[in-house]
Amino acid sequence: MKLVFATNNKHKLAEAKSIIGNDHEIVSLNDIGCNENLPETGNTIRQNASQKAMYVYEKYGVNCFADDTGLEIDALEGRPGVYSARYAGNDCDANRNIEKVLTELRDVANRKAKFRTVIALYINSEKHFFEGVVDGTILTERKGSEGFGYDPVFCPDGNNLSFAEMTASQKNAISHRGRALEKMKGFLI
Ligand code: IMP
Repeated sequence: MKLVFATNNKHKLAEAKSIIGNDHEIVSLNDIGCNENLPETGNTIRQNASQKAMYVYEKYGVNCFADDTGLEIDALEGRPGVYSARYAGNDCDANRNIEKVLTELRDVANRKAKFRTVIALYINSEKHFFEGVVDGTILTERKGSEGFGYDPVFCPDGNNLSFAEMTASQKNAISHRGRALEKMKGFLI
C-alpha cells in the first residue's frame, strides 16, 4: 500500500522506511508536492498528529499518517511536552531548545524523562492512533552527533549511549517513534 508520511523530516522518513518500508511504499510531503506548513495548533500531541494527518488526507485524498512527539521531563512537570518543537521560542532550533532544558535542569538531581510519540493514521475513511513511549534520563551535556532534536541529551534506560550516539537501527529498535511505528505495522498487516 502507498502511504504518505506527513513530514519532510529526513530522519523520521528514514526511520519509517526502515520499519514499514518493506511492506508499504512510504512517501513524504515533498513527494506529493506539498510544501506547506501543516496546522499544529492542538493542546496535545495526539491532537497535533491528528490535525496534520487529517489535513493531508482531506486536501490530497491520500492514505496518510502523521506523528507528533513530546519530551516529558519529570522535574519540569512534563514540560516541554506538546511544546517541544518551540520550547525556546517560535524561531528556535534544536540547539536552543536543548540549551533551555539543560539550563532549567542545572543542579537538578531527578533527570527522569520520556519521549512520547502519537501516530495518527487516516486510511479508507477511518482514523487510528498508535502510541510509543521510551523512558530515559536527560544528560548534563550533549553526547553524539547522530539523529536530531533532543537526541544528544537523551539517554534511554538500560543504555550508556545517548540517542545521538546510536546508529539509526539501534535507536529505531527502542525509540518512541520506533515503537509507535511497530504498532502501526502490526495493524496494517
Ligand atoms: P515533532 O513531532 O516533529 O513536532 O517534534 C517535536 C519536537 O521533538 C521537535 O523539537 C523535535 O526535534 C523533537 N523530536 C521529535 N522526535 C525526536 C526524536 O526522535 N529525538 C529527539 N527529538 C525529537
